[in-house]
Amino acid sequence: MDILRQARPQYGVIIHPESGKFLPVQPKTELEIGFGNGEFTVQYAKNHPEIMLYGVEISQACVLRCARRAYGLDNLRIINTDARFMLRELFPDESLQKIIMQFPCPWSKNSDAHKRVTAKDFADGLAAVLKIGGAFVMVSDDEPYANEVWNILGGHEALKAEDFTVNPEREITTKYERKWLEEGRNIYRVSFRKTGSFTVTRRVEGEMHIKIQRNITQSDIELLRNIEGKKDKSFWKFGRSFTDGKIFLLETLTSDDEFEQKFYIHIAPKDDGFLLRLDKTTLAFLTPAVRCALSDAAGKLS
Ligand SMILES: C[S@@+](CC[C@H](N)C(=O)[O-])C[C@H]1O[C@@H](n2cnc3c(N)ncnc32)[C@H](O)[C@@H]1O
Repeated sequence: MDILRQARPQYGVIIHPESGKFLPVQPKTELEIGFGNGEFTVQYAKNHPEIMLYGVEISQACVLRCARRAYGLDNLRIINTDARFMLRELFPDESLQKIIMQFPCPWSKNSDAHKRVTAKDFADGLAAVLKIGGAFVMVSDDEPYANEVWNILGGHEALKAEDFTVNPEREITTKYERKWLEEGRNIYRVSFRKTGSFTVTRRVEGEMHIKIQRNITQSDIELLRNIEGKKDKSFWKFGRSFTDGKIFLLETLTSDDEFEQKFYIHIAPKDDGFLLRLDKTTLAFLTPAVRCALSDAAGKLS
């Protein structure tokens, strides 16, 4: 983490977690999901030096805006990823004291319901990573969404609905929130406490190497171009390939239930054949779709 601070001394610490490894946690670790430009996040971390705060945000532009504000802060770590898919992969069970979500997109269309925090996968991940006695707090300007979260998460076997307050007193408010309240509109805060043990299956693994017992040429790899595959919620597609005459890189796109990644499969000579693995420069997580893509490429090249 210090290396990242040295590389970009004007920024707070942006981290890229390793595939299949949980992030380190301290006794008082909290998480904010979807922090936007980080106005709340940075002030909250400053107000609470006793807390280690992680922030997960899907937008790279927001991550950079927050990282600029976070310069000099030692208790905030910023991660650019999709919390819906990655929450359970980043944190072990019973590791977070609090999870905060403020003004999340309400995803009002039925076709977007799977993106809400009330979707089973998201809610289960949240229930797993909270400590027993830990809290999930969501603030919204959308009353139907606040009601839905109250009813659905309140019915989760490991969570207890604790508080529903309209226009609560808030330690820190953001520009958008102040404007909204000045216009005479309401905000809604719903809080939950984790009451019992709960766990979920993790889908991301550490490493995958596949050995092929034959010689491979650039034209073998070019045959994979534009080939697509699909299995359950996993989708993959191969793109262009590059070579320095010895090692090949195969551009690959994957989607796991809309968690999208673009990376290279690294194909290099090994003993009397070739070895396929993820190229380390593109920092992909080894999800089910990535495993399928590696196996498919290896199968077709064998
Ligand atoms: C309406 S904004 C609210 C931002 C901020 N919390 C605030 O109160 O100003 C919602 C934020 O959630 C982020 N977001 C949406 N889906 C996400 C996901 N699956 N994982 C992480 N961040 C997400 C968006 O990029 C956006 O910055």
